[in-house]
Amino acid sequence: GTGHDAGTGDGSGPGGEPEPETPLGLRFPDGFGWGAATSAYQIEGAAKDDGRGESIWDTFSHTPGRVHGGDTGDVAADHYHRYLADLDLMKDLGLRTYRFSISWPRIQADGTGKPNQRGLDFYRRLVAGLHERGIAPMATLYHWDLPQALQDVGGWESREVAYRFAEYADAVFQGLGTDVPTWLTVNEPKTVVQNGYLHGHHAPGKKDRPAAYLVAHHLQLAHGLGVQAFRAAGIPGRIGAALNLHPCYPADDSAEARSATRLYDGYENRLYLDSIFKGRYPDDVLDDLGPQSRMVQGIRDGDLAVISTPVDLLAVQYYTPYYVTRDGDTENRWPTSQASWQQIFPDGMYDILTRVTRDYGRVPLTITENGLPTPDVVDEDGTVDDPSRISFLRDHFAAAHRAIADGVPLESYHVWSLMDNFEWDQGYAERWGLIYVDYATQQRILKRSAHWYRRVIANDTV
Ligand code: NOJ
Repeated sequence: GTGHDAGTGDGSGPGGEPEPETPLGLRFPDGFGWGAATSAYQIEGAAKDDGRGESIWDTFSHTPGRVHGGDTGDVAADHYHRYLADLDLMKDLGLRTYRFSISWPRIQADGTGKPNQRGLDFYRRLVAGLHERGIAPMATLYHWDLPQALQDVGGWESREVAYRFAEYADAVFQGLGTDVPTWLTVNEPKTVVQNGYLHGHHAPGKKDRPAAYLVAHHLQLAHGLGVQAFRAAGIPGRIGAALNLHPCYPADDSAEARSATRLYDGYENRLYLDSIFKGRYPDDVLDDLGPQSRMVQGIRDGDLAVISTPVDLLAVQYYTPYYVTRDGDTENRWPTSQASWQQIFPDGMYDILTRVTRDYGRVPLTITENGLPTPDVVDEDGTVDDPSRISFLRDHFAAAHRAIADGVPLESYHVWSLMDNFEWDQGYAERWGLIYVDYATQQRILKRSAHWYRRVIANDTV
């Protein structure tokens, strides 16, 4: 028992169920990078401070009907003003690494030109504060907040935007470079492709399949150009891509389901992995798109060489598996979370980590996101009790531990998220944090899962 609830004190809960805090006794390697993750638009607020320009998420969230409850990131968790207190909370948890993102429109309000010193200074202060507390910074360059001015000239459908990204990345490397040991280029390109351009529930809100895969190519190109800019800048540190990967399983044993699963996996995983690690797009996906598709027409000589510029690490984000039917649809096999798209399946973590190592070699891996939304409330005694988040993380940590034991070079693990935040089209309706945010007062409360995570970190044991 932990004293947090009515447990019996012998490691079991009221109904004889083991409490989720009961240690499994799985010890992680010394110095394992226990961490947490956030992104700029989701937590910072301060939408107009210090010369920040508008991003496509400002536009999208301010368009009626786009985001649940009409929520926007204007204030969010007000982290821009409260970062010092938030740094102290990270230190209190014992985090060893913190993954955040840099807001492009803070650095270049219109997406081009001379960097805005006041924008850079915020991240300088944040990075310095992390170092002062012994926490390693990990910075993502692009977590979906494209400057609106670049959307106005075509957004990611325009090849030019990939070159603008490399210039922006260079400005950030020059401004903060030596103090950030690990960089990530583009967060979840697939989500931009699927949610932003196929299904339209993320910015810029398009439903245009030909455009979507051209965007995929330009995001991959931006990644490669970003890696090249990093090498050219000659600063110390490492850089890689941040991909959300989904293990895909056939829903039944039929040959049809198996072949549908193969193609599904091409679109979900190999499109991004093969281009970076093998310097080619998967043939089955290219065939399916067709030679006249905007994507295939948009690939120029040399692009794949740029995209496959060697990386130093791969960041994996795992949330859910897919079960693919013979028609190429998906069906659910496991309980879903509050996020309708998420099935809870910890073995998927093991499967995706071991598969990446098997198919793409021993590139160092980090988990940059994994987590669960829960309908958290503040109890009368002022605490927030989220046992299902603890069980979720415990089981996924155990799967990662098993992958490490089987030889996967996994260095670190960032829980999504450090604190509750703006969950894109779901607004503030989904709470993903280890730390509860009362948006009316901006008070932070460590959830039961945060207290548990602190002990995991202190003991390096789940
Ligand atoms: C992936 C995204 O990178 C992050 O921004 C989002 O909040 C989480 N998944 C949860 O949906």
